[in-house]
Order: sequence, then structure tokens, then C-alpha cells
Amino acid sequence: MIATSACSTCLRPTTRREWIQRLAMSSTAYTALSGWWSPTAAEATPPPFSEQLRLDIRAFPSLDLNSGSAIISYNGGMTNILIIRESETEFVTLDPTCPHAGCLVNPYSIATNTIFCPCHSSIFDIHGQRIGGPARTGLLPYATQLEGAYSLSIEISGFVHRIDEITQASSSRLRLQFPTMPNCQYQIRWSSDLTSPFIETSFSITEEGLADQTIHLGSGTPATVYVDKTGNAGFFTLELLVSQSA
Ligand code: FES
Repeated sequence: MIATSACSTCLRPTTRREWIQRLAMSSTAYTALSGWWSPTAAEATPPPFSEQLRLDIRAFPSLDLNSGSAIISYNGGMTNILIIRESETEFVTLDPTCPHAGCLVNPYSIATNTIFCPCHSSIFDIHGQRIGGPARTGLLPYATQLEGAYSLSIEISGFVHRIDEITQASSSRLRLQFPTMPNCQYQIRWSSDLTSPFIETSFSITEEGLADQTIHLGSGTPATVYVDKTGNAGFFTLELLVSQSA
């Protein structure tokens, strides 16, 4: 279950400009077979890592250096994760919700080698273990692995990010279905082949409507959107918008 802050009045205000970037890497390949769009054999089953949040660390400059950290949120600020670069190849990811009363802790401090909660001064080490203060337990850790040079994979129970199904809605239109998490913003991208850039694709939420929307706001229930066909084969990717607050 994804933890959310239990103490809304204790939340540390965002002191830096928030910015949004795309969290992709849930691409699903579909090709036209006999006039129908069907999953390729390799993609016939949902990707095995659908509960893994994957991000490109190059998008977060504060993670460039060892001991650098970043607090990232992906549903309008209600769900946060604290990522810390422990070494060249090792990263730590924690739920930054303080177990004392639910405040958002500060990023990792290189000066003190600790994580500090500004509400009542609980202190944690780089792995989230409690060092002092009123919190009785540590910060919840998430299994994290660097895959290749830049792709960080974080296992979060309940995290969902995949396209479940693409079917032909009409001769010119495709129907895409995917599960959503509440308040999360999604975009659809398309590429004719995996070597071409993925292009932002507008969609409609009705079968007959104008495909003029670019962001879908998740409600926690499965989404159905309609895109105009481009060519006879291609690859779609579902992107989740995330922001960095510190
Ligand atoms: S909420 Fe963190 S120390 Fe009280």
C-alpha cells in the first residue's frame, strides 16, 4: 500500500519550484496482425515489473553526486518518495513520511549524514533507521536497483503502470485500456518503431469524440482512451507525470 501523509497540517511547504517530467518506461508494443491490432508474442502478457517505478536518474540533477537526494511525487503531491544516491551504483529509496506524526522529512543532509524531520526533530540515517527523536520506528524502505547506467527501478507495492490492452475501436481508431492510480496524470506516446522517438499522442475519452486531450487524470479505476491510428504498426508507451519538490 502506498503511504500518504497523515498529518496535513505538518507538511513542509515546498520551497523550490516544482517541475514536472515524464516517467515513462512502461512501453507496450503492438502490431497490426491481419488487420487487427494485437499484442506481439513478447508482450502478450503484462510486463513482469508492473509494480516497479522506473525513472531515468539523469532527469534529477540532485542525484548526480554521491549522497545527493531528491523527493519525488507522482500524484499531485500526495505520494512522495525520497531517493538518495549512496554510491556510484547504489541508491536508497524511502517513504519520507515521518512515522511519528506524518510530516514530510527533509532530503538527506550531506552535512550531518542524516535525514531530519522538521516537525518534532526525529532523525534517521541514510537507510531510514531511527537515530533519535520522538519517532519510534524508521522510514519505510523500498527495494531499489540501478539497471544499466541510468535506469533506477523501485519496487512499490500497489504501484501500477502498464497498458493492459489495445483493441481496434473502428477502422481509424484504437482503444487503449490501462489501470490508473488516483490523482496521477498520464500521457500516451507512440512510435512507429523502437528506434524512432516516441511522440505525444492526443486521445479522446469517448469512441466518437475529438482526440484532443493529452493528459488523463487517474481515478484509481481502469481508464479507456481512444487514439487515431497512425500506420499499421507501432509501439505505445504510457507515461506517468512526476514532480520533484526538493
Ligand atoms: S512528525 Fe516527524 S518528528 Fe514528529
